[in-house]
Amino acid sequence: MKDETKTAGAIVISPLVFDDSGAINELIALAGATWRAHYPGIISVAQIEYMLAQRYDVHVIRGELERGEAHWDVLRADSVMVAFASYFASERPRVAKLDKLYVHSGHQRKGYGGMLMAHVCRVMCEAGCDTLMLAVNKHNASAIAAYHKHGFRIAESVTKKIGGGFVMDDYIMVRNVESERVNG
Ligand SMILES: CC(C)(COP(=O)(O)OP(=O)(O)OC[C@H]1O[C@@H](n2cnc3c(N)ncnc32)[C@H](O)[C@@H]1OP(=O)(O)O)[C@@H](O)C(=O)NCCC(=O)NCCS
Repeated sequence: MKDETKTAGAIVISPLVFDDSGAINELIALAGATWRAHYPGIISVAQIEYMLAQRYDVHVIRGELERGEAHWDVLRADSVMVAFASYFASERPRVAKLDKLYVHSGHQRKGYGGMLMAHVCRVMCEAGCDTLMLAVNKHNASAIAAYHKHGFRIAESVTKKIGGGFVMDDYIMVRNVESERVNG
């Protein structure tokens, strides 16, 4: 449901569109600021820059949007983009993947991450999924706490080479999406 928009006071969640270069660049700047504030101490600075360049490139994001490969939804508070989520239906039947979820460091712990998780669950439930999965770095304790708080549980542990000599050392966490249809 690409045209869905949800409001609660001055909070608006809306999809990025592929030809809105301004919004895509705003998201890239938000991702850079959030990653550079959060990940030192969890992964190396070199890995942060490598992963930012790989994932937060305007052509990569525009291509994913244009081909309909992923949803990229942004949360604005008083018109300022402060958080975003990227997600898609995985190769596993009825399983959606929450691929990216970031809230600007100055706006964490205000419920925005939880709002985006609930939003993603509703969209993917309507798309026929029953499970939402994600990968989170094993040392990212605050994010793991946030996912536990919002109904996820650890399902497995994985390590994956991502090129450049870097490795992702993650937990896979899962939650049922259907509770959002009842509660949301
Ligand atoms: C993880 C994240 C998406 C959660 O979004 P959020 O808006 O901060 O979370 P919510 O307000 O919905 O939920 C708050 C809960 O998150 C956890 N949390 C978030 N930030 C935290 C922090 N700095 N320290 C400890 N716990 C934290 C806690 O469980 C908190 O609950 P509490 O306040 O009752 O203790 C966000 O904090 C973030 O972007 N973190 C940095 C980047 C990141 O790790 N992203 C996830 C990648 S997999």
